Parts: sequence; structure tokens; C-alpha cells
Amino acid sequence: MVEIWPVTEDFAAEVGDVDLSQPISDEDWQTIEDAYHRYSVLVFPDQHLDHDQHAAIANRFGDIDHSMQKSMSIRDERLPSAIADVSNLGPDGDVLAADDRMMGFQRGNRLWHTDSSFKPTPANASLLAMKSIPPVGGFTEFADMRAAWDALPTDLRHAIEGRIAIHSIATSRARLGFEMTEEENGNYPRVPQAMVRTHRVTGRKSVYIASHAGEIIDMNRDESEELLRRLEDHCTQRQFVYAHRWRVDDLVIWDNRCTMHRGRPFDDLRWRRDAQRATSLDVGPTWQQEGLELPVALA
Ligand code: OGA
Ligand code: MN
Repeated sequence: MVEIWPVTEDFAAEVGDVDLSQPISDEDWQTIEDAYHRYSVLVFPDQHLDHDQHAAIANRFGDIDHSMQKSMSIRDERLPSAIADVSNLGPDGDVLAADDRMMGFQRGNRLWHTDSSFKPTPANASLLAMKSIPPVGGFTEFADMRAAWDALPTDLRHAIEGRIAIHSIATSRARLGFEMTEEENGNYPRVPQAMVRTHRVTGRKSVYIASHAGEIIDMNRDESEELLRRLEDHCTQRQFVYAHRWRVDDLVIWDNRCTMHRGRPFDDLRWRRDAQRATSLDVGPTWQQEGLELPVALA
């Protein structure tokens, strides 16, 4: 029988007595799914999945969200396309050089974000498998965007309800000085996303922002950045955050619809951190799910 050990009453839980590489009974899967909806972040220690098994578990949550790295002018032959390489390693398994383009791209994960919000249909579940860790640093932090919504001051609630922000991978990468090529930007045009979401299963509302978001519709660039900064500051206060200290072979599953996350720094020129992520897509664009209308220019 699957065991659930909550970290807090409704955010983050450890899940024990289950080997995800083995067939899972319907009852056990129901327990895991219920926990996913209640806690949003689930930590499964000691998991040994091959790439196909890893992708198959992701596939239970939705269609596979293929890694964008394949379509970038970045070397990436270490993992199959169903698995995003979130490590600091090259195809040979060695630590990347300081000037490697991939290194600049990966450091973007250190900004608060939710996965694939720069795609028309963003991510539902992310499943991050940790295969080697630095001895110090390299935590991952998760923010509960439902609790953040519940505690959001009224003026901010009014400012974002029914509103749409424009997300783009170029926006988050530019924040750390990483430049996308014209071709890469062509593959990933800017997309609209609702700023407040309602969870399809639990009905709970959450704030939906990310470092990928730069502009808000019907606001100028400065106003947009100011509001986004205020929102991020609010949503990432310590009381909404769970910081995960990795163990080798942890698999952590999170719900991108109602959480943000960021990787914390470590000495990435020295230590190998082998993080591999399988991701599932949500069912459609967030503005559609919220019943919002796009301005003519975006429709
Ligand atoms: C990710 C991610 C952060 C980390 O896998 O989507 O942002 O700590 N990871 O590796
Ligand atoms: Mn991420």
C-alpha cells in the first residue's frame, strides 16, 4: 500500500512503499493521483526508472511535452526527446564548460517559473529524476500558487483576474543575458496565458505567472514588469515555499498548473548534477480553459 507523508497540510508530501518501475494497482494509482491534487508536489525516494518507464508515468498525466532543446542550436544527444536534460552535463556525461551555450540556457531554470508556459498548451505534471547531486547546494524550491492566491491582497486580485500575460522563452532567457537565435524564436513565438487559473480537479484558484511572462495585455511594458515583480514577491514568500534537498534517485512530481519552482545555485563547473525531466502537457491553452477572449491582434 502506498504511504503518504505530508510536509505541510496541503503542500508537498513524500510518497513511500511504491516502486514506479513496477505495475501499479488502480487503487495505488488513485492514492497517488489524489495526493497529487491535494499536495501538488510529491517526492518519491529511491526510484529506478529507465527512460521509457519515466515517460510512461508522465504519460499518465497527459500527452508528452517534448523537450524544446532538440529544436535549439544546442548540442543535446544525451537523452531521448521525451526527456528534458536539466543537468549541467554534455553528451559525454562530463560537466559542461563555462562558455558552453547549454550552460547559459540551463541557468534560466534558476528563475521562478512554471514549465512550458511559453508553449500554447503548457505543462501539467513534471517528473524530475535526480541521478547525481552536488554535495552542497542545488536544491529545488517550489511555491504554492494556490495558497498565494488565497492570501493575495484585494488590489492584486482585481489587477489580474480575467487578465492575460504574454509568455516567451526568450523573455526568461534574456533576464540572465542568454540570447535566443532568430530561428529558435521562430520556433517558439510568444503565447498568451491566463494570470489566474482554476484547477480542473480541485476547483482551487491559483496565480499563474513565470519568469517567461513579460507583458500583460492592456498594460505597458513598465507597468507589466512592476505588477509581475509584485506578484512574484508575494507568491514566493517563505510560507508558500517548500525547498527540496535532493537525494540520488529521488523522483519529484509537481503540478505546473498551480505551482512555480526554481533551481538553486551550486558549483556547476565542479559538481555533476544529473537532472532528467519527463513532462506531460495540460489539456489546452489556459485562456481557453478560463473562458477568456483574446484581443483581435492575438486571436
Ligand atoms: C525543471 C527545473 C530546476 C532544478 O526541471 O523544470 O526547472 O532544480 N528544474 O533542476
Ligand atoms: Mn522547470
